[in-house]
Amino acid sequence: MYLIFTEDDGWHTNQLIKAFENNNKLVTTAKINESSIIVDKNPRIIFEGKEIYLEDIDGAFVRGIPGGTLEEVCFHLDILHFLELHNITVYNNTLCIEKSVDKVRTSCILNAHKIPTPKTFITSNIKDLKRLRNKFSGTLCVCKPIFGSQGKGLEILDDDNIHPDYENLSNVYYLQEFLEHPDNKFVDWRLFVINNKVIAAMTREGKTWINNVAHGANCKLFNPNDEMKKLAIDSSLALGMNYSGVDIMLHKDGYSVTEVNSIPAWKGLQSVYDDKNIAEEMISDFLRISG
Ligand SMILES: Nc1ncnc2c1ncn2[C@@H]1O[C@H](COP(=O)(O)OP(=O)(O)O)[C@@H](O)[C@H]1O
Ligand SMILES: [Mg+2]
Repeated sequence: MYLIFTEDDGWHTNQLIKAFENNNKLVTTAKINESSIIVDKNPRIIFEGKEIYLEDIDGAFVRGIPGGTLEEVCFHLDILHFLELHNITVYNNTLCIEKSVDKVRTSCILNAHKIPTPKTFITSNIKDLKRLRNKFSGTLCVCKPIFGSQGKGLEILDDDNIHPDYENLSNVYYLQEFLEHPDNKFVDWRLFVINNKVIAAMTREGKTWINNVAHGANCKLFNPNDEMKKLAIDSSLALGMNYSGVDIMLHKDGYSVTEVNSIPAWKGLQSVYDDKNIAEEMISDFLRISG
């Protein structure tokens, strides 16, 4: 039996269920934050009151890791590690989810692999916040929550908005140079990588500088050049992802990778394709490695 860890039964989960079923695989959904584990000589997982022996689980697809206390988030990741310790394929793998769920770690990994990524300063020392902000001379400064996604909680710090949203940031300030498109357009690209190949791509044109589909960006089919494909593949390799959604922006110095998502949404991307099914491609790769 295959598991999908998901918090909602929406479009993405339905796409995955259909793809499993098209491959004649039994699949069930589970909420990770309602799951329990039994660590004894017969390791088991419990959801909706049912105890499942790990040998009955063929693999787990992770569609979401809910926020929570540090203890809860650790425990949810521990559940994924628990499955992997018993040779169950977790997709995306737990380590890459850990590396990418936190924007600080992603930035450090991309930078260490010499992949162009925006200049970023991070502090939890409020006294350094002003000092670091002042280092952005000549560019605007973007402040992001380190556990953010879908463009939530991003803001530009400038003379009109001196103070970041302290409450939402939980005392970690991630400040990044604002990348301006050479033609001043609100455009970036999402490249979707599976098993180190770019299988789909789109241009996202935002209504504001935040180009996420969840913010109403317009999606268009896009044929990336070799340089962009290499950036996406190198980023995916640097983070050890089975599949990923890589965000690339263009500014005066060239392309820059702003994010590597281990749990990307793909509804916007799917909408620009008639001839391929992204969920099918992911599940086919997942089944290949889970045997
Ligand atoms: N450094 C930046 N300069 C300009 N725009 C940015 C920058 N970083 C992010 N953005 C815009 O904000 C969007 C969301 O940022 P991202 O880092 O991908 O966070 P999220 O996890 O919320 O998607 C990007 O798709 C892009 O449109
Ligand atoms: Mg993004």
